Amino acid sequence: MKILLLGSGGREHALAWKIAQSPQLEKLFIAPGNAGTANVGENVAIQASDFDAIKTFVLEKKIDMVVVGPEDPLVNGIYDYFKNDAALKAIPVIGPSKAAAQMEGSKDFAKRFMQRHNIPTAAYQTFTGENLEEGLKFLETLKAPYVLKADGLCAGKGVLILPTLDEAKRELKEMLGGMFGNASSRVVIEEFMSGIECSVFVLTDGKHYKILPEAKDYKRIGEHDTGLNTGGMGSVSPVPFATKEWMQKVEDRIIRPTVDGLAQDGLDYKGFIFFGLINVDGNPRVIEYNVRMGDPETETVMLRLKSDIIELFKGVAQGNLDTKTLEQDPRSAVCVMLVSGGYPQHYDKGYVISGIDKVRESVVFHAGTAFDANGNVVTAGGRVIAVSSYGKDKEEALALSFKGANLIEFEKKYFRRDIGQDL
Ligand code: AMP
Ligand code: GLY
Repeated sequence: MKILLLGSGGREHALAWKIAQSPQLEKLFIAPGNAGTANVGENVAIQASDFDAIKTFVLEKKIDMVVVGPEDPLVNGIYDYFKNDAALKAIPVIGPSKAAAQMEGSKDFAKRFMQRHNIPTAAYQTFTGENLEEGLKFLETLKAPYVLKADGLCAGKGVLILPTLDEAKRELKEMLGGMFGNASSRVVIEEFMSGIECSVFVLTDGKHYKILPEAKDYKRIGEHDTGLNTGGMGSVSPVPFATKEWMQKVEDRIIRPTVDGLAQDGLDYKGFIFFGLINVDGNPRVIEYNVRMGDPETETVMLRLKSDIIELFKGVAQGNLDTKTLEQDPRSAVCVMLVSGGYPQHYDKGYVISGIDKVRESVVFHAGTAFDANGNVVTAGGRVIAVSSYGKDKEEALALSFKGANLIEFEKKYFRRDIGQDL
């Protein structure tokens, strides 16, 4: 099989690493990829958003399958682009249709979906500039803290949690006034839920599903969950509170109703579903849906996926995922993210990275890296490198990841030393 993987982050390096282990792989291309994906496949200088260039490449190289890493191309309709093109329609795209990608692309769409299918989530209402006054009144009926969400995609920045009613009212006005551009022309206000979060992933062919290993990610920049939100500073799998009983509740109350609901609503979905869950007094509730894998969760989930991922993707494409098996590795896996000093605010790029070759007991996934003119691997983003490790338990795996994190060097390197400690 010749596969084209779209994207360029740590998630994509982890997916590429896993795809490259399949005996069914003939050739893997990554567009645009990073300095790490170049070790497991061939990078192609095409942006994941450039559908016409992707088409030309896919036809020229006779690609058999396209796997989509990030949400943007999905929300912009890459699945439909292939399906509606005579030359491309036989080539499967692993990812949902544009209509189904609204599960991530619009918070209001996702909330209405959950309400329609009785899937447990926070109570909510949606407001626009037109009914701002009602929004302000609705806030008065809620208890602090207040949760405001921009309806559209904001690269993870569109959720505000405010401690006082005054701040909530002020921010609601700001958001509806264009704080996140068009993405916040509609705002979802929802009930605050208190508990620990957990990311659960499935692969679905639109009818059947297979549950992947779950993971917990660490979003804040500072140790003990302080400071600004980031894309994710590390992850741990399995998650101790995600017991068999808890996961059964997740499957019965959330996963099955979601997959059935998508089919009932006529939403074409062949890909990953990411359930952002919160454990409220022992009961799982949905915080958000994403239509892709998580980052940095993928950097642990792929370590714990024993089965051939291409075989699973074929099941997704052919609609016979029920005939495939998904085996989980019983070991623990953790990931520690090395980031550029300053991230998630201003940071510099282009620093040479050394010491990667000294890391022998972990799997190193590149996130924001590139090659400079001399062929050196340099920093090219906020999140730079994920150091992932196995262990018989998370402590053993964490010790290896921290050892690896200390061996890799670049100017202003920073990482959290408390990953997994809260569990
Ligand atoms: P989202 O982009 O919807 O995942 O929200 C970002 C983060 O905000 C989540 O990972 C949670 O930590 C937090 N969050 C979102 N919605 C709620 C809620 N209703 N109650 C408590 N925390 C929330
Ligand atoms: N780690 C959270 C996300 O990928 O959205």
